[in-house]
Amino acid sequence: MGQIIACANQKGGVGKTTTVVNLSTYLALAGDAVLVIDLDPQGNTTSGFGLDRDEIRHSVYEAIIEDRRLSDLVVPTAIPGLSLVPSSISLAGAEVELAPLPQRERRLARILSELVDSYDYIVLDCPPSLGLLTVNALTAADAVVIPIQCEYYALEGLSQLIATINLVRNHLNPDLAIKGVVLTMYDPRTNLSAEVDAEVRKHLGPAVFDTVIPRSVRLSEAPSYGLPIALYRPDSKGAEAYAALAAELRERDGRPEPHARTASDESPSGVEGNREAGDGSSR
Ligand SMILES: Nc1ncnc2c1ncn2[C@@H]1O[C@H](COP(=O)(O)OP(=O)(O)O)[C@@H](O)[C@H]1O
Ligand SMILES: [Mg+2]
Repeated sequence: MGQIIACANQKGGVGKTTTVVNLSTYLALAGDAVLVIDLDPQGNTTSGFGLDRDEIRHSVYEAIIEDRRLSDLVVPTAIPGLSLVPSSISLAGAEVELAPLPQRERRLARILSELVDSYDYIVLDCPPSLGLLTVNALTAADAVVIPIQCEYYALEGLSQLIATINLVRNHLNPDLAIKGVVLTMYDPRTNLSAEVDAEVRKHLGPAVFDTVIPRSVRLSEAPSYGLPIALYRPDSKGAEAYAALAAELRERDGRPEPHARTASDESPSGVEGNREAGDGSSR
C-alpha cells in the first residue's frame, strides 16, 4: 500500500512546491511509482512539471468538489514513473465550496482510497494556508513533510502548524506522523543559516532531515523551463541535495535500493548540453 505524504507549511515561499516537484522526481527516479497531487490553486507544481495551466481541462477540483474519479484526472509527466493530478484556478473557490459539504475534511482521503494501492508514494502539495484544502491533505496523509526556510523567524508559525496537525490527529487522522522537517534555501555564507539550522535541530531533534537544501539559482530557474532540477541541471548542488533528500526519506522508510532509472532515460530534447555553467549555490 502506498504512502501518502503531505508537504505543508502555511507560510508561502518556504519551498513546499520546489520540494514536492524535486523530491517526487528523485523518488520516481529511484524506482518508486509516484503520484503528485497539486492542491494549490496557484498551480506552481503543475507548471513546474511543464504543464500549461491554460490548457488544463481537468483538475483535482473536479474530484474534491464534483465527485469525479481521481483516476480520470491523472496525467503523465516527463519523468518516468511520475504522474500528476493538476491544479486549476477553480480550486481557489474550493475552500468556500467545501464548507457546507458533509465530511468536508475527509473528501480527499475518500477519493484517494481508490488510488493508494497503485503507487508507492502519493505526494500532496498544499496551499499556503491552514484552510480546508490543507486540512483535507493532512486528513488523507500518512505523514507530513514540513519545509522550513532558513531565514529570520524561521520557527514563527511552526507552533500553529503543529497545533493544526495535533487537531487533525485528535479528530480526523490519529495516525498522522511527521515524516520530517527539511531546511530549505540554506546559504552557507551566512551565519543566519547556520543559526537557523542549529535552532531548528535543537527544537525538533531527529525530526529534522540531515539533508539540507541549499539556496540555488538553478532550483529557482528550473520551473520557468517546466522542468524538475533532475532534467534541468542534474549536476547542480540543488539537484544533489534533492537526490540526497529522496535517498534519506527512502532510507527512513526502509525502501529497497534504487533500481537506477535516470532522468536522461526519457529526458525531453533540448535539455542536454546545458550543464557547463556552475551552479549558483555552494554547500
Ligand atoms: N533552494 C532554493 N534556492 C533558491 N530558490 C528557491 C529554493 N527553493 C525555492 N526557491 C524559490 O523560492 C520561491 C518559493 O518557493 P516555493 O517552492 O514556490 O515555495 P512555496 O510552495 O512554499 O510557496 C520560488 O520562486 C522558488 O523557485
Ligand atoms: Mg507552493
